[in-house]
Amino acid sequence: MSEESSLQQPEANPGQPIVITVVRGDDRYEFDREEGESLMAAADRAQIHLPSSCRSGYCGTCMARITEGEVTFDENHALAGKVMSEGYILVCQAIPLTERVTIEYEF
Ligand code: FES
Repeated sequence: MSEESSLQQPEANPGQPIVITVVRGDDRYEFDREEGESLMAAADRAQIHLPSSCRSGYCGTCMARITEGEVTFDENHALAGKVMSEGYILVCQAIPLTERVTIEYEF
C-alpha cells in the first residue's frame, strides 16, 4: 500500500468499472463495485458476507490487508498509522482509487 491509501483523497475514475477481489482462506470472490460504494457495500450487493460490526470506522472488525490497488477512507477511528502502513484497511470505509482492488483476510 502506498501513501495514496491515506485519508481524504478524491475517488479516481468515477463511472469506470472497478473490480474487487476478496480472498478468505481458500475462498476467492470477485465482484464489481458501483460508483460511491465502499468495498463493504459492494460485497453486500454481491451477497458476499464479510466480517463487520459498526460499519462506521470505529470497531476494526472489518480490517483486512490490501494486496492490490489503492483505497481512501471517509472515516478511520480504528487503525493507527503504523497498522495502515502495513497494508491494513477498514473495508467498511474503503473507497477504491484504482480499477482493481484485492483484499485478503488473515482469519
Ligand atoms: S465494521 Fe467497524 S470499523 Fe468497519
